[in-house]
Amino acid sequence: MRLSEARREYFRRRAREEGYLSRAAYKLIQIDDKYRFLSKGAKVLDLGCAPGGWSQVASARVTDKGLVVGVDLSPVSFKARNYLFVKGDISSPQTLQLIRESSSSFDCVLSDLSPKLMGVWDADSSRQVALASEALDITKLFLRGGGTAVFKLFQGETTNEFIGEAKKLFQRVVISKPPASRKQASEIYLVCLGLLADKFAADKEL
Ligand SMILES: C[S@@+](CC[C@H](N)C(=O)[O-])C[C@H]1O[C@@H](n2cnc3c(N)ncnc32)[C@H](O)[C@@H]1O
Repeated sequence: MRLSEARREYFRRRAREEGYLSRAAYKLIQIDDKYRFLSKGAKVLDLGCAPGGWSQVASARVTDKGLVVGVDLSPVSFKARNYLFVKGDISSPQTLQLIRESSSSFDCVLSDLSPKLMGVWDADSSRQVALASEALDITKLFLRGGGTAVFKLFQGETTNEFIGEAKKLFQRVVISKPPASRKQASEIYLVCLGLLADKFAADKEL
């Protein structure tokens, strides 16, 4: 077995043993252990949350004093007192309305969004970054000033453009590659700290 497969198998087995719905849960655990944004009482919006690993981690870390709202096209079996699942497309106005009804503002926005892969890297990468850009627009609507956002990005032609946009909106933007993300996988996580709310106050009122 190649090292990357062994690592994937290790996190898959560990997720099964520890009751996580996806091995992706460990990526968020590792990112949050470093940057500490999932604080007790925080309100978190988790975009592209199915099957639910990130939502489980966020729900446990924010505790019952906080709230996690997960959004996905696919269903999620995870249930918790502080968890609300919205089944829908992040591009649809109805989905945005349902998010807004759960909370008008969040302390943290997470995006692990990924399209169905076609196996053609350039196309998959630009579709994934387009989804992340939609998540960035949603972040502008819902994230409070000073808040944190995390975006998965497939590396490709449009990735740097996305990073440039994020840098205009946040005090600090860091590229993270958690150990649970396979070295060979061309995905990175962009950790965006300290939203500069005044930069887009006008957009927010639209
Ligand atoms: C890699 S998975 C997320 C894994 C998740 N973070 C976890 O820990 O279980 C990516 C998700 O993005 C969702 N997705 C893709 N496009 C979407 C869209 N337009 N609206 C909502 N969800 C979408 C997919 O359905 C898929 O479940």
